[in-house]
Amino acid sequence: VVETTREVALASYRVVIGSGVSARLGEIVRSVAPAHRYAVITDSNVGPRHAAAVVDAIDSSRTMVVTIPAGESHKTRAVWGDVTDQLLAAGFGRDSTIVALGGGVVGDLAGFVAATFMRGVPYVQVPTTLLAMIDASVGGKTGVDTPAGKNLVGAFHQPAAVVADTSLLATLPAEQLRAGFAEAIKHGVIADAAYFERVREAASQLADLDVRGEQMLDLVARSVEIKAGVVGKDEREAGARKTLNFGHTIGHAVESCSNYAILHGEAVAVGMVYESALAERLGLAEAGTTARVRDAVLAAGLPDTRPSSISVDAILDAARGDKKARAGRVEYALPSRIGAMAGADRGWALPVSDAAVREVLA
Ligand SMILES: NC(=O)c1ccc[n+]([C@@H]2O[C@H](COP(=O)([O-])OP(=O)(O)OC[C@H]3O[C@@H](n4cnc5c(N)ncnc54)[C@H](O)[C@@H]3O)[C@@H](O)[C@H]2O)c1
Ligand SMILES: [Zn+2]
Repeated sequence: VVETTREVALASYRVVIGSGVSARLGEIVRSVAPAHRYAVITDSNVGPRHAAAVVDAIDSSRTMVVTIPAGESHKTRAVWGDVTDQLLAAGFGRDSTIVALGGGVVGDLAGFVAATFMRGVPYVQVPTTLLAMIDASVGGKTGVDTPAGKNLVGAFHQPAAVVADTSLLATLPAEQLRAGFAEAIKHGVIADAAYFERVREAASQLADLDVRGEQMLDLVARSVEIKAGVVGKDEREAGARKTLNFGHTIGHAVESCSNYAILHGEAVAVGMVYESALAERLGLAEAGTTARVRDAVLAAGLPDTRPSSISVDAILDAARGDKKARAGRVEYALPSRIGAMAGADRGWALPVSDAAVREVLA
């Protein structure tokens, strides 16, 4: 039973959010992406828990499940090829719709299958992690990793709809839920101080949070609105979309230096604290911004400093290799205060000297 549902409308699709909304998938899919056959692409953790209900909700007589092994290490061209071959072997053609049921790994990979299968078929995102609900499922970036780096091969392909059923979070491991909070904190910092306070409050009660309740609905809905608002202005990341990179320049560096042993959200939490300090040090951010960011990060039980095993030089080197480094200069998206970003007049991406970064990391 759906008690409360929210919808966020983007230019070309809508995001339906609520506890239990995946029961309405049949109606939603038939209205935005009707097809002769449906393929639910999921992973080995999510499939056994949620695929059967999703298949029933769509139409079990027309729906096939394709399961990939769980984990970032399987977001590859090989798995993309394997899934595509399974669809071809099962006779899927142009008149197909793909349903991505899982976290960001499944969403990115299934989205890339949809972008390329028969030169592009529609897909619907059914995110099952908090990170995927508030970040990865919205915006139309799809793709896979290569040995040279993450997300280096892909396509922009907007979903036909996103169906975020918060009740699916009930089976998500606690550390994954925690990691998702980092992106919610980020949304508060870049766009909405009042929301930042609500996220901080929810984060401090994370262990008792009811994923089917009003507070979780508010978190997902407001974060989606903020991300959608930014992406709507700048689908291909020429300007405003760069603000979403707050915490991610240092965050990605920490993540890669740990060989991905640290979860993305944990690395972003660390990155947000350092990058806030950088913004304050450069005179861009209001005094006290870093303290508030750190407080929210710690309330969520996320780390606020780099592991001592990762050196300052390793982080600087990794940051220079990041996609966001333009012509050797590393760019940062930095806040001016909680709720607003600096650099509107400079494309929202600010070049920062290694010396300044070194100081805040030390
Ligand atoms: N396209 C974008 O704009 C965008 C944005 C951010 C991140 N991403 C991508 O998202 C990926 C990370 O996503 P993620 O954090 O969701 O990771 P993930 O998809 O690997 O999910 C994390 C873990 O939780 C398990 N899981 C997922 N939902 C579950 C549930 N309801 N119950 C039990 N277990 C569940 C998964 O099997 C996995 O083991 C990265 O590949 C990243 O590049 C993409
Ligand atoms: Zn992120």
